[in-house]
Amino acid sequence: MRTHRCGALRTEHVGTQVRLGGWVHRRRDLGGLTFLDLRDRAGLVQVSFRYAETDSAVMETLADVTMESVVLVEGVVRARPDDARNPDMATGDVEVHATALDLVGPAEPALPIPVWRTKGEELPSEERRLDYRHLDLRRLELQRNFELRHRLLQRARAVMSDMEFYEIETPILTTPTPEGARDYLVPSRVHKGQFYALPQSPQIYKQLLMVSGFDRYFQIARCFRDEDLRADRQPEFTQIDLEASFVSQEDIYDMLETLMVALWDEAGQTVAPPFPRLTYADALDRFGTDKPDMRYDLEIVDLSDRVAGRGFAVFDAVVEERGRIRGLRVPGGAALSRKNVDALASSAKAAGASGLATLKRLGEVLTGPLSKIDGVDAASMDMNDGDLWLVVAGTDQVTSPALDVVRRAVIDQLSIGPTRAHAFLWVNEFPLFERDSDTNEWTFPHHPFTAPQPADLERVVAGEREGVVAQHYDLVYNGVELGSGSIRITDPTVQKKVFELLGMTDDQVEQRFGFLLGALRAGAPPHGGFAVGFDRVAMLLTGATSLRDVIAYPKTTAARALFEHAPTTVSPDDLEALGIQVSP
Ligand code: AMO
Repeated sequence: MRTHRCGALRTEHVGTQVRLGGWVHRRRDLGGLTFLDLRDRAGLVQVSFRYAETDSAVMETLADVTMESVVLVEGVVRARPDDARNPDMATGDVEVHATALDLVGPAEPALPIPVWRTKGEELPSEERRLDYRHLDLRRLELQRNFELRHRLLQRARAVMSDMEFYEIETPILTTPTPEGARDYLVPSRVHKGQFYALPQSPQIYKQLLMVSGFDRYFQIARCFRDEDLRADRQPEFTQIDLEASFVSQEDIYDMLETLMVALWDEAGQTVAPPFPRLTYADALDRFGTDKPDMRYDLEIVDLSDRVAGRGFAVFDAVVEERGRIRGLRVPGGAALSRKNVDALASSAKAAGASGLATLKRLGEVLTGPLSKIDGVDAASMDMNDGDLWLVVAGTDQVTSPALDVVRRAVIDQLSIGPTRAHAFLWVNEFPLFERDSDTNEWTFPHHPFTAPQPADLERVVAGEREGVVAQHYDLVYNGVELGSGSIRITDPTVQKKVFELLGMTDDQVEQRFGFLLGALRAGAPPHGGFAVGFDRVAMLLTGATSLRDVIAYPKTTAARALFEHAPTTVSPDDLEALGIQVSP
C-alpha cells in the first residue's frame, strides 16, 4: 500500500511519486491550503493540499479527516522553500504535495488523550495515559524506546549465539522457584486444589539443562514476582538469563562484559572492559550500599578514632557498643543552605539514623556540632576551605543505609558532576546466608542454589552460617543493580545441607526440591550463570525514568493493568470449575 515510511523522506526523494500511510498528527487549515503532519513509526512528514491544484473528491475526503485518523496519501515529494524549512524535523527540508487521499481508519473527533501537544504542554497524568495506552504508545518518544528495545534484544540474541549459547525456552506453568518474592499461582482445573506457580526466574530449569549437557543456555525470559513495586520493579519483567557449564566466575564476567559492551554499543555508547570489582564488604564500607553509583568519587570515611573518646557522650556510647562514627567529606558542601542540610538530616533519619552531625569549614572557621569536640580541627579532619562533613553514628546496619541515602541526596543537591559517564561495577563475595529483617530467621540473599566460596565449604558442611561467603556476583551500572548470578552448588549433599541450614525439614526438601537433588545425583557438571534485568537495561539506554516507558503494557505500582483491566473477578462458573471459593 505504501512506497516509503513518512519519517524516512529526505531531500534525495525530491521529485519522487510516493504513497504513504500514517496517522494525522496535526492539521492546519490556512487559506487555500491545508497541511497534515502525517506520522508513522519512523517519524513525521508534512503533507500539503493546495486547493487550487487538488480535485474535489480529495477535498471532500479532507473535510472529514480528524486528528489521529489513519489515511493513505499519494503525492510528490517537493523541496520546501528556504523560509519554510524546519530544522527540528528530520523530514523538515521536504514536504509531500498530495494528489490523492483515502481515509481508511477514521478516528473519533474527541479522543480521550492527545498525541500531539504544543511545545512545553505537559503530558496527561500517567494513570490516564495507562488507561489509554494504545494512544499513549503512539507518542514518538515511546515509539523510539521500543525501537531501541527491539534492537537491543536482537543484538543480545546475536551475541549470545556467537558465544555458542543455545536459546531454550523453559516452562511458565511450573513449580515455585525461590527468588525471595511471593509466587503468582495458577489453579489447576484438572487437579483441583493444586496450583502451578509462575516462574520467579528460570533458575532451576537452567541448572537442569546444564545437568542434561546443553553446556551453554540463554533465554529472553519472562519472570513473575509478587513483591512491593517501585519505579524499577514490575510484577512481570524480562531477563536475559544464562547458564554455562565448566566455567569459573571469571568466565562469567568475560561473557557478561562482552554482552554489555555490545548492548551499550547498540545504543551508540562506548564502554570498556574489564569492569572494576569491589567486594560486598568493601562496597558497604566505602559507599554504604551493595550497588554504589561509582560515577562519583565521594566515599565514606571511618572517623571513630578522630571524634570518639574525646568526651562527646553520644559518640563515645556508640563506639562502646561496637558502633562506628562514619561520614562523608563533601567538597563545596559548606555552601549548602540550612534548609538543604535539614533535608539531608531528615533523609538520614528516614533511613534509620538517629541524626546527622555536621562540621563545616569556611575560611579558617569551623562550625557545627563536631567543632566542639576536643582535638577536632581542619588538619585532623582533612578539611579544605568550603568542605562539609556529614556524619552518622551507630552500628554499620544503621550508618550504611543512612550514608548511602545522604551520599545520593548531597550529590543531587550540589549537582555534583560525575567523574565518569559509565560506571559498571562487579560486586562480589556476598554472604551466603543472611537474617530476615522481619523474622530474624536465617534466609538466602538471592536464591538457595549459590555455592559457598571453596574456602568456606567445610564451614557450611559443619553447619555454620555466620560470615560464610558465597560465589555470588552482582553487576551494577551507575548505581542500578543490572543483574546477578553465581556459581552453583553441584554436590547434592552440600545442596541438601544448605536447605537444612535455611530451616527446611527433610520432607520439605524432598517435596520442593527432590527433583533437583535427584538430577544433581545423576552426573552434574560444574556450572554457573547470570541474569540481566533487561527492562532496566532498556530503561537506562533509552534515558527513560521508569520501567513503564519501556514495557508496552506495564502494571501500576498497585500491580494493576489499567488498560485491559487485570486482575478481575471471574464468573462463579469458572470458580466452580476450579473448585475455588473466594472468602469475602
Ligand atoms: P535476580 O533475582 O537478582 O537473579 O534477578 C536478576 C535481575 O533481574 C532484575 N529484576 C527485576 N526487574 C524488574 N522488575 C522486577 N521485579 C525485578 N526483579 C529482578 C534485576 C535483577 O538484578 N536466578 C537469578 C540469576 C542467577 O543467579 O543466575 C535471578 O533471577 O535487574
